[in-house]
Amino acid sequence: MAKIVILTGAGISAESGIRTFRAADGLWEEHRIEDVATPEGFAADPALVHRFYNARRAAAAAAAPNAAHRALAALEADPQHQVLVVTQNVDDLHERGGSHNVIHMHGTLNGALCHACEHRWPAPAVMAPTDACPACGARATRPDIVWFGEMPYRMEDIWAALRAADLFVSIGTSGNVYPAAGFVADARHAGVPTLELNLEPSAGTRLFDEARHGPATQIVPAWVAEICR
Ligand code: OAD
Repeated sequence: MAKIVILTGAGISAESGIRTFRAADGLWEEHRIEDVATPEGFAADPALVHRFYNARRAAAAAAAPNAAHRALAALEADPQHQVLVVTQNVDDLHERGGSHNVIHMHGTLNGALCHACEHRWPAPAVMAPTDACPACGARATRPDIVWFGEMPYRMEDIWAALRAADLFVSIGTSGNVYPAAGFVADARHAGVPTLELNLEPSAGTRLFDEARHGPATQIVPAWVAEICR
């Protein structure tokens, strides 16, 4: 059974209507990373940060998984393949598309986290700085999102899976944010073949053994059909 580790980024959800970060009309054109995606930004203006993620949560809830998400779920269901999806995305379109084995390394919009006691619980549709933690009562509620300067989740599990993989595939990510951007080099170092599926060449495209470029809803189902033949 072939073990495949698949890294996904905003590009896989783009055709579901969710904005990417670094496109000309991307989220980082309208919002400063320092303001909405760092612990310092949250400390300075928690209401602004909650408004930003409340809007992301509403956009994700209104979106539906696309053919690329569904193709990865079909690959996971194929008995010849053991699939782990490691996503940088904070939407839940992989799960709603049918994938089960998913690591959200940058956290999830559907989670709330208490800054004071680290208790986690399902996020309401709209979060506010005055929300109290159901465990300790502190009014220090934040979205369960990994911000710049924080350690992404489950890195030891991800690196172990990468080292043991038969193939590493990167889908819909620009390759700008570490440690995810380093997975292709980590995989190569472990002798694991690498494939990029992205709209355009990513920052690290030359590190991949093979790269295919086009919209995820076309190139991901085509690749899955090819390897499940
Ligand atoms: P980016 O916005 O940096 O990159 C999205 C990539 O998807 C680009 O390379 C696009 O060319 C590609 N793309 C766009 N539409 C596509 C389509 N229809 N099919 C296939 N590819 C498409 O987003 P990420 O690489 O995911 O982190 O960004 C990584 C991290 O940076 C995010 O998780 C977020 C952000 O800052 C945090 O907020 C901590």
